[in-house]
Amino acid sequence: MTIRPTKVTTYANIALIKYWGKADVSSNLPAVGSLSLALSPLKTVTEILQSDNGLQTFSLNRKPMPEAMQVRVQNALNDFGVDSSLPMTFATENFFPTAAGLASSASGGAAMTLAFEQAFDLHLTEAERIAKTLKISGSAPRSLYQGFVALKPQANGTVELEQIDMPTSWNLHVLVIVTAQGEKKNSSRDAMEHSKTSPFYNAWVSEHAKDLEAAIEAIQTEDFDQLMQLMEWNTLKMHALPTTSNPAVWYWNATTLKVLEQIRESKEQGLTGGFTMDAGPHVKLFCHDQDVTAWTKQLSQVPGVLRVIDCQPAPAPIVEIVE
Ligand code: PMV
Repeated sequence: MTIRPTKVTTYANIALIKYWGKADVSSNLPAVGSLSLALSPLKTVTEILQSDNGLQTFSLNRKPMPEAMQVRVQNALNDFGVDSSLPMTFATENFFPTAAGLASSASGGAAMTLAFEQAFDLHLTEAERIAKTLKISGSAPRSLYQGFVALKPQANGTVELEQIDMPTSWNLHVLVIVTAQGEKKNSSRDAMEHSKTSPFYNAWVSEHAKDLEAAIEAIQTEDFDQLMQLMEWNTLKMHALPTTSNPAVWYWNATTLKVLEQIRESKEQGLTGGFTMDAGPHVKLFCHDQDVTAWTKQLSQVPGVLRVIDCQPAPAPIVEIVE
C-alpha cells in the first residue's frame, strides 16, 4: 500500500460544559453531552510518512512514543481497516504540555483520524469520521471543527456534533494558567469509570442536558455572563464526582485553589470572565479581549503560577500533503 505523505494540524479544545462519564466503554459513548471551543496556539501536528528503512517508527514530541500510546495508535489503525504492521513513520507533536489536563487527547485524536484518512486514502462519511474519532477519545470529535461545538449523544448509540455561531460582538480569549509541571497522575479514562462510585454520579448525568441546552442558548442570545456562570457551575459539578468517588481522586493542587480565589477577588473588583478546569491542576479563564492584560497581570502574580498562555479561538484543522 502506498502511503501519501501527510501532515495534519489540529487544535486542543476546552469544554465549557463538560463530558465526564461513559454510557458504553467499548464504543466510548459519552453518558452526557458537552460544549467546547478549540484554541490556538494549543496545536498538535501529526505526520505520517512512508518509512525509508522498512521499519515502523512511532514518536511523540520527537521522542520514541510510550508503548501504551503506541498500542492505542495501532488499535486505531486496525479500527480504520489499515494494516497496523505497515512500515511507516508516525510522528506526533503537541506544542503545549502533553497529558496534563490540557486536552492533548482531543487534538491528538482528531489529528490521527484526519491523518489516517489522508495518508491511506480512506473515504469516510462524516458520521464515520465522528464515530471513529470518538473511539480514540470522547473529547476528540470536537477538535474536528472550529468554534463552539456541541457534542450530543443520541439514543441509537451515535453522537451528533453541532457548530454554534460565535456572536460577532465577542472577541474571546482563554487564558491557560499553568499551575504544575509534568503529567497528571490519573487518566481521565480511569477516573471517569471510577466516578460511578460517587453518590452524585446519577444526578450529574440526569441534570446535564439542561446545562448544555442553557449554555447553547446563552451563546445564541449573546449572554456572556450567563455562559460563564453555567460553565463554572458545570465545572465544579464535574470535579465533585472524582472528589466524592470511593476512594477519592482529585486533580487540584494548592496553586489551583489560589488561582480560583484570585479569580473570585478580581471579579469582585470588576473584571469579567469565568473559569473552567479539566482532568489536571491547571485553570482556564475565559474573558473578553479588553480584559486580557488585567487578567494576565493578576493571575501571573499568584504564587505557584508557572505561566499564563493567552489563547484565542483556533482556525479549522489543516490537512497537507508533505513534499
Ligand atoms: O476525552 P478525554 O477522555 O480526555 O476526557 C476529557 C474530559 C475533560 O477534559 C475533563 C472534559 C471535556 O469535556 O473535555
